[in-house]
Amino acid sequence: METYTVQPAKAVRGEIAVPGDKSISHRSIMLGSIAQGTTTVRGFLRGEDNLSTLNAFQALGVAVEDDGETLRIEGKGLHGLAEPFDILDCGNSGTSIRLMTGLLAGQRFFSILTGDRYLRNRPMRRVIEPLARMGATIFGRAGGDRAPLAIVGRELTGIDHASPVASAQVKSALMLAGLYAAGATTITEPHLSRDHSERMFRHFGADIEILATGVRVRGGRELQGRDIVVPGDISSAAFFMVAALIVPGSELLIRGVGVNPTRTGILDILTAMGASIELVDCREVSGEPVADILIRSSRLRGIEIGGDLVPRAIDEFPVICVAAALAEGRTIVRDARELRVKETDRIAAMAANLRKAGVAVVETEDGMEIEGGERLLGGSFESFGDHRIAMSMLVAGLAAEGEVAVSDVECIATSFPNFTELLARVAAR
Ligand code: S3P
Repeated sequence: METYTVQPAKAVRGEIAVPGDKSISHRSIMLGSIAQGTTTVRGFLRGEDNLSTLNAFQALGVAVEDDGETLRIEGKGLHGLAEPFDILDCGNSGTSIRLMTGLLAGQRFFSILTGDRYLRNRPMRRVIEPLARMGATIFGRAGGDRAPLAIVGRELTGIDHASPVASAQVKSALMLAGLYAAGATTITEPHLSRDHSERMFRHFGADIEILATGVRVRGGRELQGRDIVVPGDISSAAFFMVAALIVPGSELLIRGVGVNPTRTGILDILTAMGASIELVDCREVSGEPVADILIRSSRLRGIEIGGDLVPRAIDEFPVICVAAALAEGRTIVRDARELRVKETDRIAAMAANLRKAGVAVVETEDGMEIEGGERLLGGSFESFGDHRIAMSMLVAGLAAEGEVAVSDVECIATSFPNFTELLARVAAR
């Protein structure tokens, strides 16, 4: 288990670009593989999660060439995937396993999906229950709620599904199954989750209709290979935004970040906390909005966060907790129960780490209350095997009173392989 140590910084300065968006990278492989013709992907995130998806599709018979800059995927068409010779390992990646479960449910072959010990503990019923209503046959541990999942491919029929959680993974799994189903598959959700699938389905020519709080996909239409440029991941940029905000005297420009409105909750939250954030040169790339983001250190204040802001910032809560710990006054997070079933229970993990850093935190069932202040103590912290917990505590280390050591940091490679390099580059000593 590797430990990484960060010293307090004098400022965070410079210009960086963060790696490609994780969600878009997964979807580019999946749609490229089942489209007709070639798909090229530039800016693909070579993190472990996305490599799990890439390896799985290669095991399903898809040829992918990688010249180090661009991926070339030779699409097999809707029905061209082949039965895999072995179990498909999704590693730590919830997006890989849930989306592929939907996609594989409608194939004419048998497959098994599994993952690491964290992924095997995460709930799968949310996708398996609606897929079963579409006619899918899927077996799993814990009465079908946990991986490994065994999928007996079948002909599917479209359904209407009102998802009780705002989850892009659930929505996308059913959209992928819907490509193979007879008739229409309609998914609605309580709040809009990230819409990268909707955008990419349209880009590939799928039969798709956007509804007020949902989406409808009609099955049977072939997709066409496309060229995709993946923008920088706003969830990765978020660590550097908070770093620049909490270290006085900082100014940082992050180039080429995806600013899809279903992902920019972090910008709204930090702005409401008093952050100085400017979007520069807004443009559109492959159907996704992109901008450069300029951040200057700011005095932050505590706020209340809930409702539809939560799914729009769902992956950013660990680092929002760090900003809240150094803000003036109390920050209250509610409606964020989903944080308990991420790579780890992120409410419990951040509460434990912040308390160790001297911050008063109250855990609630669906969120937390953080009493902000000016001080964060250094010390040793745990990643809980979760990349975003590890990176959040290392960011905290830049503004802490002493050295911060985080153990078990290998998990950072799932989403942000060059994180520590970039952090060292922008932190002035
Ligand atoms: C993702 C959806 C979100 C997010 C995850 C990526 C996706 O999960 O937390 O990191 O790519 O669809 P949920 O759908 O479980 O909210």
